[in-house]
Amino acid sequence: MSQTPIKFAYWVPNVSGGLVVSRIEQRTGWDIDYNRQLARIAEQAGFDYALSQIRFTAGYGAEYQHESVAISHALLAATEKLRVIAAILPGPWHPAVLAKQIATIDHLTGGRIAVNIVSGWFRGEFHAIGEPWLEHDERYRRSEEFIEVLKGIWTQDAFSYRGDFYRFHDYSLKPRPLQQPHPEIFQGGSSRAARDMAARVSDWYFTNGNTPEGIEAQVDDIRAKAAANGHSVKIGVNAFIIARDTEAEARAVLDEIIAKADPEAVRAFGHEVKNAGAASPEGEGNWAKSSFEDLVQYNDGFKTNLIGTPQQIAERIVALKALGVDLILSGFLHFQEEVAYFGEKVLPLVRELEARRAAA
Ligand SMILES: Cc1cc2nc3c(=O)[nH]c(=O)nc-3n(C[C@H](O)[C@H](O)[C@H](O)COP(=O)(O)O)c2cc1C
Repeated sequence: MSQTPIKFAYWVPNVSGGLVVSRIEQRTGWDIDYNRQLARIAEQAGFDYALSQIRFTAGYGAEYQHESVAISHALLAATEKLRVIAAILPGPWHPAVLAKQIATIDHLTGGRIAVNIVSGWFRGEFHAIGEPWLEHDERYRRSEEFIEVLKGIWTQDAFSYRGDFYRFHDYSLKPRPLQQPHPEIFQGGSSRAARDMAARVSDWYFTNGNTPEGIEAQVDDIRAKAAANGHSVKIGVNAFIIARDTEAEARAVLDEIIAKADPEAVRAFGHEVKNAGAASPEGEGNWAKSSFEDLVQYNDGFKTNLIGTPQQIAERIVALKALGVDLILSGFLHFQEEVAYFGEKVLPLVRELEARRAAA
């Protein structure tokens, strides 16, 4: 098992309604004051990263949405060590604009910004902003060019590129980002196209929640493909964490979230994402196998089963690490309180178990 401590990220609630499509009471805000405070709590609790979301329009909850690069910068300005990952959609963003924005933010924040290149699932959103909606694998072909171009701009002088989506001619970005060789590049997705892209160009692969068997299959697949390409990629897995003093309390919270789910919104969301996923030719997209209950959490976070007591959760996290997982991306019902609880009760147990395994 890796000697590097497993890393923790949390989803920035920069979109209203929290991370579950449910009418359960949530003490999670989406505004900037709530988010600044949360970022400070998370940094103090021992979280390494915060991941922002990009949404251009409402749909299935998420009535209000702050933009991801701007809010990432605000959270970096409010913290000292936390790294913040800005979600980016190729299409709406041009890589030259993004490369420049991120290089500047990198200088403003002492080298703590990263990006998450997502390929999109929400056709209605693209339609609303007049952006062409490409077929599934075409979206990934564009994302891969986007990442190649970002790396090129960030690391080369007089960068030139002739792709199907992007062209550059002797372009030199000044200043380059502080981070060397460049700010970290994350990506999201589970389909064949997503995994193949990760195995070629991404620093990190983020995937939806899943069972340990499902996660292991993805980790093995990506690592084998990456090794064949001479590339190395780290892996982050989504989990909706419900940590309570007793397992019964934690399970009761999950039951209540599902019982109070908004069935129409969950079904409509499921229809949209399954459509997006089904368009991946092999049918292994992010939500291909998601049930109604899974879909109540936008990214299948209940499936990872980090629901129970601090001890149970810590053991399951270390078991995921043993499968090759490098980072847990976490969502919570009441973010501020639960991130603090996680830092106090769960994280020390994870570190203890890691130390014990390392010594064994
Ligand atoms: C961790 C993670 C974060 C994501 N964040 C966003 C986001 O902020 N905005 C967005 O439109 N899609 C986001 N996505 C969804 C991706 O755009 C993509 O639709 C999804 O992963 C589809 O994957 P597939 O190729 O497996 O079908 C995210 C996915 C993951 C796994």
